[in-house]
Amino acid sequence: MSVRPVLRMGDARLLRRAGPAGDFGSAALRALLQDMRDTMQALDGVGLAAPQIGVNLRVVIFGVEKSPRYPDADAVPETVLINPVITQLDDEIEDAWEGCLSLPGLRGLVPRFRNIRYQGYDEQGAKIDRTVSGFHARVVQHECDHLDGILYPMRIRDITQFGYTEELFPGQALQDE
Ligand code: NI
Repeated sequence: MSVRPVLRMGDARLLRRAGPAGDFGSAALRALLQDMRDTMQALDGVGLAAPQIGVNLRVVIFGVEKSPRYPDADAVPETVLINPVITQLDDEIEDAWEGCLSLPGLRGLVPRFRNIRYQGYDEQGAKIDRTVSGFHARVVQHECDHLDGILYPMRIRDITQFGYTEELFPGQALQDE
């Protein structure tokens, strides 16, 4: 399959609300997911949403292995999540740094719910229902925001906490979402 160009902030297609995906198990969905995986791997990303490659459907992928580069970040299972619904489990908010493949080279301090439940479907239409916290919950919220046309800078509370990765974290190679 193929690595697709990732749209960057400023492209109006990133600001749309995506529509529901159907056709579970179809060749078209399989091809889309393969392109998304190829693209995410090529760019060493943690997650990718279909709208980031110009496909206006409610499909996201994410996943990261436990890495010595991120001793504080938990592993997140490789997941295909279609037509997701997120429910906050309490009011606890946590701030942490995020990057995004649509804003290469930048990082921002973003508030997210610490504890969530997410539900949706995998590529075969099997139900997914998980209760997660911390980094896993953050990645899911970041990716699902893309389905509603929301990019992480729109959620930053203190805009001084937004800038170039090389300046904020000199010498560190960080992954984007
Ligand atoms: Ni992103």
